[in-house]
Amino acid sequence: MNERKWWKEGCVYQIYPRSFADSNGDGIGDLKGITDHLEYVKKLGCDIIWLNPCYKSPNDDNGYDISSYTEIMDDFGTMEDFDALLSKAHSLGIKVIMDLVVNHTSDEHEWFITSSSSRDNDKADWYIWREKKNNWGACFGGSAWEWNEKRGEYYLHSFSRKQPDLNWENVDVRNAVYEMMRYWGDKGIDGFRMDVITMISKDQNFPDGVKTGEYGDSSPYTNNGPRIHEFLKEMNREVISRYDWLTVGEGAGARVEDTLLYTDPERKELNMIFSFEHMNYNKPSGENGWIEAPFSLPGYKKIYKKWQEGLSGRGWNTLYLENHDQTRSVSRYGDTSTPELWKKSAKALAVMYFLMEGTPYIYMGQELGVTNTDFQDITEFRDIAALNDWKELKKSGRSDEEALHLLRLVSRDNSRTPFPWNGGENGGFSTHSPWIRMNQDYGLINVEEEEKDPSSVLNFYRKLIALRKESDTLIYGDFTLLEEDDEDLFIYQRTMGDEKYRIIVNMSGKEREYQCKGKVVLSNYSDCLPYLRAWEAKVIKEE
Ligand code: NOJ
Repeated sequence: MNERKWWKEGCVYQIYPRSFADSNGDGIGDLKGITDHLEYVKKLGCDIIWLNPCYKSPNDDNGYDISSYTEIMDDFGTMEDFDALLSKAHSLGIKVIMDLVVNHTSDEHEWFITSSSSRDNDKADWYIWREKKNNWGACFGGSAWEWNEKRGEYYLHSFSRKQPDLNWENVDVRNAVYEMMRYWGDKGIDGFRMDVITMISKDQNFPDGVKTGEYGDSSPYTNNGPRIHEFLKEMNREVISRYDWLTVGEGAGARVEDTLLYTDPERKELNMIFSFEHMNYNKPSGENGWIEAPFSLPGYKKIYKKWQEGLSGRGWNTLYLENHDQTRSVSRYGDTSTPELWKKSAKALAVMYFLMEGTPYIYMGQELGVTNTDFQDITEFRDIAALNDWKELKKSGRSDEEALHLLRLVSRDNSRTPFPWNGGENGGFSTHSPWIRMNQDYGLINVEEEEKDPSSVLNFYRKLIALRKESDTLIYGDFTLLEEDDEDLFIYQRTMGDEKYRIIVNMSGKEREYQCKGKVVLSNYSDCLPYLRAWEAKVIKEE
């Protein structure tokens, strides 16, 4: 059996502070709003929260552009508010992990202000400066290089122009990052989710990338780069090893073989990685020409099998279907065509991903079955990526209707609409009109309604979380995928010693023959028949 760890047994609830709860009526969520609602997280059964960035930031990319790592964003409150949040969470038995964004800072960070002021200052080499640029494109569109008049040089920005990449080759940069991490560690936080951490070591030859349109693809030279493992081992020695932390790296470009290196405990790097292969499967995006490929279950299952078997016994998986960069899972994989199918499919998806081997993450609102938002026109979008995609789509000759259709399918704003606490004004999120519009379904899909309904998606998630918590087999047991080629059914087993669970999910609206013996310990139907109905999901303890 894998070594026992709290971060393997726990369940993480991800909170996007801007959209969770607004305590001061300015239309923007804040830390006090989160503190006021921690009991909700506790009742759900999650014992860890991950907060998206709440540091000082000019908000070019909603907090992923940090101008001070040790101050709180004005919109979100003060350091006292943070301390109160942490202390209340701990008193409720909830651990708190923060976002660590150190591939880049904001261009308004004093490190960058100094670095960009001349070629000769004590931080001159803290960012990546070059007289000549290569052909790399930035993730948010355009060139990855921006000209700076004062230095007469370009700086590298893998994301927006306002997010210059730090130079991790410089030991002073690394030490400054480690010192900042210890500041938060000494405050008592319980770990970090590390933003695009697999991108911090760049190929120092900066070769041109293969062109995919106007610009070259930088990923072979930035993802899992030459010194990445050396840097993470150093970070572990200098910081992580001093605390009992959960560390999860966002694994841009991390394959199974890379992830084994990142997460094998003997190598002393990170606990786990957010991999992308399952999220990117048949997802339309600018990189693949916005092709809307049909979803095929056998292909999707193969990805899970590869990751489950690949990390088994050595590394550790993350389990997730949603986050602040993804669309809502029930709209993407489920069926929202009728209220009944919406409810059944939201629960089926929950069972499908939650009981594999790994630490499960729930993105706020997923536990209610929140759907994608019916954005009416471009002025309703807020995300820098959506606004850039819109420009690209229009440049490529798409009509407004076509461009809007694609943005609705992929936009990160789908997951950033305000959390629906009730069906009243602004969903109980704020007394002020919110910074981004509400989801159209908030009158029905909200906490107050779902609290009242014993068969709600929310109450189902509570049972599912409790079920996993009670069973070592569901946490540490071996994983076996069954019926690999079946186009409708997602079935797997978890086994430990003599104990066996079979997780059976009909990922379609069709009726399907399927029988097995045992005790049903969880189901999204109230009775059990010798066949599976639309989106039927059940967990069976086998006899
Ligand atoms: C990944 C984060 O999850 C995303 O929201 C952000 O835009 C980029 N990294 C850049 O920090």
